[in-house]
Amino acid sequence: MINALRQKRIVLGISGGVAAYKGAELTRRIRERGARVRVVMTRAAYQFIGPLTLQALSGQPVRTDLFDVNAEAGMGHIELARWADAVIIAPASADVMGKLAHGLADDLLTTVCLATSAPLLIAPAMNQQMWLAAATQANVALLRQRGVEILGPASGEQACGEVGPGRMLEVDRLIEGLNARFVNDALAGLKVLVTAGPTREAIDPVRYLSNRSSGKMGYAIARASAEAGAAVTLISGPSNLTAPETVRCIAVTTAREMAEAVSRELDGTNIFIAAAAVTDYRSATVGEQKLKRGDEPLTLTLVPNPDILATVAAQARRPFTVGFAAETEQLAVNARAKLEKKGVDMIAANDVSLPAQGFESDDNNLSVFWPQGERILPCAPKEKLARQLVALIAERYHAHARHPA
Ligand code: C5P
Repeated sequence: MINALRQKRIVLGISGGVAAYKGAELTRRIRERGARVRVVMTRAAYQFIGPLTLQALSGQPVRTDLFDVNAEAGMGHIELARWADAVIIAPASADVMGKLAHGLADDLLTTVCLATSAPLLIAPAMNQQMWLAAATQANVALLRQRGVEILGPASGEQACGEVGPGRMLEVDRLIEGLNARFVNDALAGLKVLVTAGPTREAIDPVRYLSNRSSGKMGYAIARASAEAGAAVTLISGPSNLTAPETVRCIAVTTAREMAEAVSRELDGTNIFIAAAAVTDYRSATVGEQKLKRGDEPLTLTLVPNPDILATVAAQARRPFTVGFAAETEQLAVNARAKLEKKGVDMIAANDVSLPAQGFESDDNNLSVFWPQGERILPCAPKEKLARQLVALIAERYHAHARHPA
């Protein structure tokens, strides 16, 4: 299975139990997979493992109290709940499970669980009699019903000397379970082509025209498409980002190189997602030598670059085509106009006039339009937003494939 943990944000909850010491190994292993971890401990967990160990291994402050003024000033509990792509509690005591099943929130861990929309995974660890107790089993059933994933427990010899179900699953299995939460088959068997980043148009050997695109959104979409089972090719303009190892990446510089690469790769593509911020114009001439500075005004003649998205959308046998629209005003009107003008199947629009969203930032918001509908994906980290967008694209792609226009 592909490593889907890279760049994920994991809240690891550790509650009281002998298996709490395995939280150290779990933290290390989750980070090894490229994810970020923030550890939240219950008071009882302190009896079994020291917070300093987990702080050192996670590289982040470990938190316990809900009403910790200093910690709340850094990242509030609601922020932490929003930050998480997944919450895993390992080990989960009978007490924590009871609290979660009944919606109690009297410490940081249970509050974060209640306040998050991220998937919750629980690795129970307790004495076998406690696990088999009717109350625990009723709580487990309730939590499962609400979509909480229960990992384990395993059976075997217990710390208390008894034998039976209640041992926490091994760290390997927990990592597998966590990884699997980020993998789905919404795009299984499909070929997805993504453009990302800016393009760069030379004026002379040292100067160029470009824009502020970082490539974050496009790279996150490529990764999320691969996690949804697609074979992904990413065509990227100059970007500082490292291409996900789950996708095939083709590096280009100019709009024309990007257009050529897209046309070469298009055959057999089921879904084309144009997330690149293509430089609309290039200089008509490119100086062979560095242009000299002078006192007179300098006029550059700009000629339009090919519209890659519109070219793909105009083809007779074309993939399901998704474009982006960065707008500074009248978002819905402009996005709908672009949907029609370019003849694409879907437009994901964002308001780049809002502070701390859009081009270089880690967060974004999207309003997605297609001929018969629209959906708003509220402000979230780009990786999370990309997964939501890919899920929506998959939904529309399959609806489209069943009812061709
Ligand atoms: O028309 P506008 O540039 O706002 O459209 C943005 C959308 O079109 C984006 O999806 C972008 O990747 C795509 N585009 C393109 N080729 C261009 C300009 C934009 O593919 N030359």
